[in-house]
Amino acid sequence: MTSSAPAHDAPLTSAAFRVVPVSTLDPAQTELAEAWQAVFIDSAIADMGDDHDAWSMDSRKAREQDADWENRYFAALDGTTVIASAELMLPMRDNPHLAMVDVVTRPEHRRRGVGSLLLAHLIREAAETGRTSLLAETTTRPNGTDAGEVFLRKNGFDLGQTLQRNDLDVAAYAGGENPTETPGYIIETSTDDTLDEWLEDRAVLQQRMSTDAPIGNLDISEETWDADRLRRLRDTTRRSNRRAIESVARHVDSGRLVAFSGLQIPANDPSLAYQQDTLVLREHRGHGLGAAVKAANMRALRAEFPQTRTVRTWNAEENGPMIRVNEALGYRTTALQREWQKRLT
Ligand SMILES: CC(C)(COP(=O)(O)OP(=O)(O)OC[C@H]1O[C@@H](n2cnc3c(N)ncnc32)[C@H](O)[C@@H]1OP(=O)(O)O)[C@@H](O)C(=O)NCCC(=O)NCCS
Repeated sequence: MTSSAPAHDAPLTSAAFRVVPVSTLDPAQTELAEAWQAVFIDSAIADMGDDHDAWSMDSRKAREQDADWENRYFAALDGTTVIASAELMLPMRDNPHLAMVDVVTRPEHRRRGVGSLLLAHLIREAAETGRTSLLAETTTRPNGTDAGEVFLRKNGFDLGQTLQRNDLDVAAYAGGENPTETPGYIIETSTDDTLDEWLEDRAVLQQRMSTDAPIGNLDISEETWDADRLRRLRDTTRRSNRRAIESVARHVDSGRLVAFSGLQIPANDPSLAYQQDTLVLREHRGHGLGAAVKAANMRALRAEFPQTRTVRTWNAEENGPMIRVNEALGYRTTALQREWQKRLT
């Protein structure tokens, strides 16, 4: 390379880039925020294809307003061009030791040091807020190479858990049309609302989700849920421009809710729906309630969202029972998601 080579061909040092905070809510920053968001979308399409699952701008805005998390957004600029984007997610109600980080560099600007610069920035911010454990995730095709893995390992992260990303072709759904028999339990389904009369029991189930779902070696503690937090989650889903379907199982003798499962459907692109949490209280397992609430959701989805072609879910590799249920319903693995962690000392 000669000294007259254009600057963008040279591997620049971090002094060449500028990191700035971004708000998706500030009208004065609309252009910056759109360029920042475009990095996530364009990179996801380049790495994972059109069926990627990057957050939409509506979701980013809703997440910036979510009082249960502090989400800080940053862009790295080369001159006036946004070439990499990052997000720092700080849980505010529980897990005060944790910070989640996400860094994405435009494919044509990779290996120039900008990813490292942004990650160092997030780590500084996390440490300043007293966080001692960082989590990050990467996604690859099942036999693909994972630049994120090399990048995170180089920066001191270790593998904490591997999840399968499993997709269901709705047209090939093998779950049948008729409600599943669940003697002693009633299945109830709601569209767009976690019903007010469900909230108290649902908070118990949601909290249990944080201790009962497999978490590999990840340094995650129990979450704290109550009816108000569920109301705020409902608001965040609405502001994200996502529709929702939720089914619960009610135990007839006690009148309490003992199982739930949810789906979310982006309103402006309903072709890909997302399976959310599913939980059956330990003392009510073995009665087919998990399959029954999921089947009720699928019936509602097919009736109310005929445009949905795929339902996507993530299952921990060690969660054999859930994976077997999903395989029987027709789910197939389309990507692997790895969860990484690094302790700050
Ligand atoms: C991972 C990612 C953010 C790296 O961004 P970047 O701007 O290329 O990062 P850097 O240039 O600072 O790379 C730092 C080091 O990571 C390693 N690395 C990064 N990409 C690599 C690749 N494709 N192959 C091998 N090593 C790689 C190298 O050691 C590199 O240093 P070097 O170029 O001096 O050898 C980028 O590839 C990306 O956006 N991937 C998709 C999203 C993702 O996986 N993010 C990570 C989760 S937070």
